Amino acid sequence: SSCGELKLGGIRATALTAEFGSPLYVVDEDAARARAVEVRTALQAEAERIGTTATVYYATKAFLCVEVARWMADEGLAIDVASGGELAVALAAGVDPALIGFHGNNKSVPEIERAVAAGVGTIILDSEFETERVAAAAAAAGIRQRVRLRVNSGVHASTHDFLATSHEDQKFGQPLAEAPRLLREILRHDNLDFVGLHCHIGSQIFATDGFRESARRLLGAYPELARIAGRPIPELNLGGGFGIAYTSAEADELPAIADIARELADIVAETAAEVNVPLPKLAFEPGRAIIGQAGVTLYTVGTTKSVQLAGSDAAADPADLGYAERLYVSVDGGMSDNPRPALYGADYQVRIANRESAAAPALVRVVGKHCESGDIVVQRDEIPGDVRPGDTLAVAATGAYCWSLASTYNYVPRPPVVAISGGSARIIVRGDTEEELLAKSVSDAPRFTPTT
Ligand code: LLP
Repeated sequence: SSCGELKLGGIRATALTAEFGSPLYVVDEDAARARAVEVRTALQAEAERIGTTATVYYATKAFLCVEVARWMADEGLAIDVASGGELAVALAAGVDPALIGFHGNNKSVPEIERAVAAGVGTIILDSEFETERVAAAAAAAGIRQRVRLRVNSGVHASTHDFLATSHEDQKFGQPLAEAPRLLREILRHDNLDFVGLHCHIGSQIFATDGFRESARRLLGAYPELARIAGRPIPELNLGGGFGIAYTSAEADELPAIADIARELADIVAETAAEVNVPLPKLAFEPGRAIIGQAGVTLYTVGTTKSVQLAGSDAAADPADLGYAERLYVSVDGGMSDNPRPALYGADYQVRIANRESAAAPALVRVVGKHCESGDIVVQRDEIPGDVRPGDTLAVAATGAYCWSLASTYNYVPRPPVVAISGGSARIIVRGDTEEELLAKSVSDAPRFTPTT
C-alpha cells in the first residue's frame, strides 16, 4: 500500500480513467500471456521429466472474452468452458474445438448437442444422466465423443467452503467408488470414448498436499478401471485451483507453480509405479493462477468518513492494528464489479494511484456505492490518511472472478475491460450503459394468455 503515481504497463492509471472512465477493469495482456506460458511450461516440463505429457486448459470461468480466449490459444493452452455461453465465446475466438473441454454439472441437452456438433475435444461427464445424453448426441451426430468422468476424490481442500469441490457433500462429480459402475455404463455406448478421470478439488489452494492426495487416490482406481475397459486408461485430469496472492502476506506463503508441478509429477510417477499402470497423459485446468494477477481495478473516491473504533463494537479486533479510528473510503463501484469480498470474505489491498503522499497511514476500509453494508471492496488496509474525494484507487489481483462474477446490482452499469500491451490500451469488453440496462424494462410486450 505505497503511494505515488501508478503506472500500468507503462501507462499512468489516471490517463486510463480519463480516457475510459471509472471504475475501470485493466488487464495487462503481456503479463497474462507471460503467465500462461509460465504455468503451461512448468506443468509440461514436469510431466515430460517423468515420461509423459500434459495439456493445460485455461479455465475460462475466471475471465473470458474473445480477446482473452485468443491470447490463451496463441500461447498454447487448451480451453475449458463450463456453459454454452463460454463455448460460444471460445468458438467465436477461433479456438480449435478439439482443444476445448466442456464442463458443468447440469449441461442442458441443447448445450450438449451444440458441443458435440462443434467437435469439442472432451466432454466431462458429471452425472450418470449425462452418459445417456452425450451418447445420444454423439450418435445423432454420427461421431465418437471423447469423455472424462468427473469424480470426487474425497479430499477436503483447505479453502473457503464455497470453493472446495471434492468432498462428498457438494453438487459436483460422482463418488470415486462409483467410477467402476459408471465406466461400465459408458462402455455400453460405442460412440463414447472414455479417456480417464477428472477431479477438481477446489480453488485458491496453497497447500499442495490436497492435490497430491487426490492424484494418488484417482490413480489408485486406474488398475480396476483398466481391467473393466480391457485397456489402459490413457489420461488423468487433475483440475485447477492453484492459488494466487491477493495480499503481500499471502505472497510469502504462495508455493511456486514449478514446485506444485514437481510435487504433482512425483506423486503421479510414484503412484503409477506402485499400482502398476502406464503413466497417463496429464491435464490441468488453472484459471485464477493465469489471469488473476494480470488484472487491476481502478476506482475514484467519492466520499470518506471516519469511525471511532474505541468504545464501538469493532474495538477489540487485533486485525485493526491498534488504530483508534477507521476511515471508510467510498468508491464509484463495489460489489457489482467485485462480489468476492461479500461472497467469500476475500481480502485485497489498495493504493492511491494518482499522486504521491507523505501523509501518515490510516486504517481504511474501501466500500462501494451499493445499498448494503456488506458492499466492501477492501476490508482492511493502511494507506496515506489524506486519501480524499477525487483520488484514484487501484485494487490489484482482480483479473480472475471479478468481471466474470459482476452484476448490475442497483442498475450500476458494469465497467469496461481495457487491455494494455506494449504501451497502449484498448477496450476488450464494453461496459454497460444505463440506457442498455433501462432497455431491459418492458411495458408493451405482447401478452401470453393460455387458452386451456
Ligand atoms: N476446473 C474446474 C472443474 C473448476 O470447477 C474450476 C473452478 C477450475 C477448473 C478453475 O479453478 P481455478 O484454477 O481458477 O481456481 N468464484 C470463485 C472461484 C470458483 C471456482 C470454480 N471452479 C472465486 O471467486 O474465488
